[in-house]
Amino acid sequence: MVRYSKLAFRQTVHHFGTDLCWTPMVLAKEFNRNSFARDSDLTISTTGPELPTIAQFGSNSPLELSRASSLAAPFVNGVDLNCGCPQSWACAETLGAALMEKRDLVRDMVVATRQRLREDGWGVGKEADIESPKGRGRSVSVKIRVHKDLRKTVDFITTVLGDEHNRNIDWLTIHPRTRYTQSSVPINLEALELLTNMFGDKLPVLVSGDVFTLSTLPYTSHLLEPQPTFTSNASKHEANGAPTSDNTRPHLPKLAGLMSARALLANPALFAGYETCPWKAVDVFMRNIARAPLPLKLGIHHLTEMCGAGFGPDRSALLNKGERIRLTEFDNWIDVIDFIDDMKKARGIEPIAWLPQDI
Ligand SMILES: Cc1cc2nc3c(=O)[nH]c(=O)nc-3n(C[C@H](O)[C@H](O)[C@H](O)COP(=O)(O)O)c2cc1C
Repeated sequence: MVRYSKLAFRQTVHHFGTDLCWTPMVLAKEFNRNSFARDSDLTISTTGPELPTIAQFGSNSPLELSRASSLAAPFVNGVDLNCGCPQSWACAETLGAALMEKRDLVRDMVVATRQRLREDGWGVGKEADIESPKGRGRSVSVKIRVHKDLRKTVDFITTVLGDEHNRNIDWLTIHPRTRYTQSSVPINLEALELLTNMFGDKLPVLVSGDVFTLSTLPYTSHLLEPQPTFTSNASKHEANGAPTSDNTRPHLPKLAGLMSARALLANPALFAGYETCPWKAVDVFMRNIARAPLPLKLGIHHLTEMCGAGFGPDRSALLNKGERIRLTEFDNWIDVIDFIDDMKKARGIEPIAWLPQDI
């Protein structure tokens, strides 16, 4: 996530069971030309626990993407091309979602990147190399939106995938909204069902969009077996428009993974099965920013998201609105830490646990 999925946040979601973390979209051209861009856009831990990380790039050039990937490869597990960003500045530069109209270019970019990584000595031969014990495997993947006319999306994926026995990409993440669909509109389930059924045997397909809590997904999936049992409240509830009744939810047997953005910001413990953000996620985040600092305002924004009502049916929040506003007024970390400790104390909860064994 642009602005947000920096190291401390990625470490926090990883602590709570997220398998794979993406960096914010990094502009490949800047990354290649400027060492300060590299230092500020890609922060990795040299000491912490292993954190599987995918560097996501914005690019429209095979040369730029393959060079940026070559520079990033020693520090990450794979590289991903953003074909989903709908922002007008990105599309005007033929970046992000504009690439959904350039399937040959996208294929050329991933082919050039795979070739460059291979020349650099990285294993890019699909699962065998990715899981190589030498740790030299690097993935190349793409994140897309869908078209209004799904035949165009099918053509896009077919072109970018190439020979299914010698694929150009290791996996695909689908955000089933078009470039013009607002994020308040539920994802297009028919598109997701059709595309996972069509391509799910050819490569791993992940979904991005409306993963608000694990118990209110708008589809059923073997990924969640045993299937969560809905509480009477949850089954009646519509989480931000997502249908939760089993009759209306398609089953997606070929889905390979779930990606979350907005709801994970609000609840970094989502993939550990928490319906709302627990205080211990705040503790883990605070501990991580002590070691991998964030700008104060950015860190506070994360905290207001985590202490807010979130995206699931349970709208309870760690802090009320007034307390969250108070949080935004601090101008230093000491006051933020004291405030959080006070808020926890007022609720009879232990102060921030700074040591891993205390969480
Ligand atoms: C703050 C924010 C930043 C985002 N940044 C990126 C990004 O850098 N790259 C990307 O592919 N998608 C990005 N997205 C889109 C999300 O990955 C995702 O596709 C979309 O928000 C729908 O998923 P959600 O319902 O889980 O939020 C971003 C979304 C948000 C809210």
